[in-house]
Amino acid sequence: MTEMEVKLGQLTLKNPLLTASGTFGYGREFAQLYDLSLLGGVVVKGTTLEPRPGNPPPRIAETAAGMLNSVGLQNPGLGQVIDQELPWLAQFDTAIFVNIAGRKAAEYQEIAACLDKVESVRALEVNISCPNVEAGGLAFGTDPKAAAAITAAVRDATSKPVFVKLSPNVTDIVPIAQAVEAAGADGITLVNTFLGLAIDIKTRRPLMANIVAGLSGPAIKPLALRLVWQTARAVRIPVIGIGGIMSGQDALEFMLAGARAVQIGTANFYNPLAGPQIIREMAGWLENEGVRDINEIVGEAL
Ligand code: FUM
Repeated sequence: MTEMEVKLGQLTLKNPLLTASGTFGYGREFAQLYDLSLLGGVVVKGTTLEPRPGNPPPRIAETAAGMLNSVGLQNPGLGQVIDQELPWLAQFDTAIFVNIAGRKAAEYQEIAACLDKVESVRALEVNISCPNVEAGGLAFGTDPKAAAAITAAVRDATSKPVFVKLSPNVTDIVPIAQAVEAAGADGITLVNTFLGLAIDIKTRRPLMANIVAGLSGPAIKPLALRLVWQTARAVRIPVIGIGGIMSGQDALEFMLAGARAVQIGTANFYNPLAGPQIIREMAGWLENEGVRDINEIVGEAL
């Protein structure tokens, strides 16, 4: 049997597969289908200080090889997440990451300080890359100074591992990745969605109420893989790869490109069993190849 345990700095995951923020809720629906303890980790939906209703519909559209979303960080707010969602999720033996978002640095910091006291939370994922909100989100993730300032604010507020989720919607990912590393990030998650647009030919208007939206799914895999590869060459902290992973082979490509763990997002929508299936496929492929420990292949393609 191939050893599937991975280390992300101080954090150990039983296997490298996490479910991506905003694609898995808090796991309640998926837990009716399989044991969430099979997963290396679960990243919960972007959490803000106050509840948010998100953007008006339409806010989801299927594309030829993926989907567009413009959800707008709908979530029940930090209080409910701490009181109801996290205690429920904590029954499973899987690492809980909380994705956090805010309009300004002080909000990120307040959320991080509150979550620092929640024992079940294993890591924070700082969302500076949501393309679907007016304030915060992408505006922080496209500027190295702003990205570093948010990272430093969160770093000051928590002793838990801090992963920063970056946007692919930049000219050069390297200075942003290096800025968050220098500001104290323990790791980087990338990529969030690519900015996209859908047009309704009947109305002759943009389809989404919020006009632009984030593209995910198999269409973005080669683009995401390139960004992960570039980032893994430029930083020393671990990278979590995400972007169009649909199979064990896809996930292994990201690990060969330098990712120490992977997240699956859009796959959860079309196949709710994708998580355990992809873990099995990864392990099966590695066993067939005679690889004793998955860590042996990390970064081989760098
Ligand atoms: O619109 C959304 O809630 C998406 C968030 C994200 O992409 O980070």
